[in-house]
Amino acid sequence: MFPLPVIVVNFKSYREASGERGLELARIAQEVSEESGVTIAVAPQMVDLALVVREVKIPVFAQHIDTVKTGSYTGSTTLNAVKEAGAVGSLLNHAEKRIKASEIDEIITEMNREEMVSILCTNNYAVSKALSLLSPTFIAIEPPELIGGDVSVTTAKPEIITRVVKSVEKLAPEVGVLTGAGVKTSKDVRRALELGCDGVLLASGVVKSDNPRKTLEDLASGVD
Ligand code: G3P
Repeated sequence: MFPLPVIVVNFKSYREASGERGLELARIAQEVSEESGVTIAVAPQMVDLALVVREVKIPVFAQHIDTVKTGSYTGSTTLNAVKEAGAVGSLLNHAEKRIKASEIDEIITEMNREEMVSILCTNNYAVSKALSLLSPTFIAIEPPELIGGDVSVTTAKPEIITRVVKSVEKLAPEVGVLTGAGVKTSKDVRRALELGCDGVLLASGVVKSDNPRKTLEDLASGVD
């Protein structure tokens, strides 16, 4: 595993992070990570996954896995293909790409067997508590209503982070906790770490920034 804390940048389907622009953003993330000594990981768009893996040495995640089954499943992203592409792991169950609990269980079991890193997104306390029992590498608590907005979860809902951190510590101490939604500044990162998180998961703050390098440098400076 990579050193913690980690700043994970999800490229989502933003035009600003497609193709060559996605590669450039990944290179910038790597440079800022090297300069700051802070682990920065990226989750590029699926069609760019293997390209980005070849381009950078920082951890690269898929944004989603459909199934562990290989074979006649046209259009599916399989765990096998993600692993073959060289990703260290994958986001799972993102608010914009939910999957059934039974599928999450199956995928995480296989990811753990393959020693892949899973970032399992959750929307509230109860779901975080329940899904932590599936033994993902990380639970990433992201209140959906704050995603893509200007108010960070660390300011709007610090109590949900604290509750999730405490519950995971108690029920599944081997599972890490990330948080995201509206995270944009060093202050947000610092607060997430103070609240007990192992890092942050963010997207628009970096991808839509006029100056992603400067934003990433600022975010990294939130790790003391
Ligand atoms: O995956 C990260 C995410 O959903 C948060 O998005 O744009 O609020 O940083 P954003």
